[in-house]
Amino acid sequence: MDTEDLPRRRLGTFPTPLMELPRLGALLDGPRLVIKRDDLTGRGLGGNKIRKLEFLLGEAVEQGCDTVITAGAAQSNHCRQTAAAAAACGLSCHLALGGDGEEAVVGNLLLDHLLGARIHWCGEHRKGEDLDRIAEEIRRQGGSPCIIPYGGSNATGAVGYVEAALELAAQLDEREWKLSHIVVASSSGATQAGLLVGARMAELSAEIIGIQIDPEKTAGRTLPENVAAIATEAAGRLGRSWSFSPGEVRVETGYFGGGYGVVGALEREAIRLAASTEGIFVDPVYTGRALGGLIDLIRRGRFQREDRVLFWHTGGSPALFAMGEELLSR
Ligand SMILES: Cc1ncc(COP(=O)(O)O)c(C=O)c1O
Repeated sequence: MDTEDLPRRRLGTFPTPLMELPRLGALLDGPRLVIKRDDLTGRGLGGNKIRKLEFLLGEAVEQGCDTVITAGAAQSNHCRQTAAAAAACGLSCHLALGGDGEEAVVGNLLLDHLLGARIHWCGEHRKGEDLDRIAEEIRRQGGSPCIIPYGGSNATGAVGYVEAALELAAQLDEREWKLSHIVVASSSGATQAGLLVGARMAELSAEIIGIQIDPEKTAGRTLPENVAAIATEAAGRLGRSWSFSPGEVRVETGYFGGGYGVVGALEREAIRLAASTEGIFVDPVYTGRALGGLIDLIRRGRFQREDRVLFWHTGGSPALFAMGEELLSR
């Protein structure tokens, strides 16, 4: 069984670029830095979820659904990409967003509207607590909804990142590069889970370090528990009876700052450095925090000079436009 054998819809533009970060690397004076540009997956302004949605929507279409429904914060990148993917597949899209509807219609939320998504404001419930209720409403009105979990994080979504790791392995072979580490923003877990499975399939020895973005649990599980469970199930889907335990999932938990979505000095510096040295935008919630974490690890001497460390850019730049001067360093 291979990723090719699963139902899917082609939504993104692949392979995404693998590039060096010479100016950022020189400024930090640490290991060699490279970047995988999954901010450039294409559809709906791109990001990591497009890879997951190829398989999630493949399954929804195969099951005969006419509507997809998912959940996230008001500025959710996952929700914006789901709305874009649904539009491209001719499906209706409902979004269960955290908040009370008073949020400014900017950034991802503006794009959700332009993509034709129907928004349900769910107060504190930003992680999909109301999805069953909304699905039931849609059924009563004659629709056939498919629930896509918070963050697109289940074994089906993770398969997109198994494939991403295989794509990276082929690019590394071409360039005759060897990686020592992969650093990635990790939140609902399927991105890191898919990378773990794909790296094992491709025999990549790089250590995969998730920078935990959200201090809160998802579906009652810690991030390492979630990643391990999703990885084990995704491996099973692909015919590998591999078991991953939470203890072998490498997660850095020191970068929560003021909490989920709160921009601090760490994120501001990372956003400014990526933009001013390489002309690359990271986002205020996920990749700004993850790159900030990587910069801190470099400064603390976590890596050797001869290491080659890959930063996996998972997208999110539309959220920059939901912020104002708070992004500028004070
Ligand atoms: C830009 C960005 N990076 C990383 C992530 C985290 O990916 P995962 O939820 O698969 O851990 C997200 C999730 O929403 C995201 O929007």
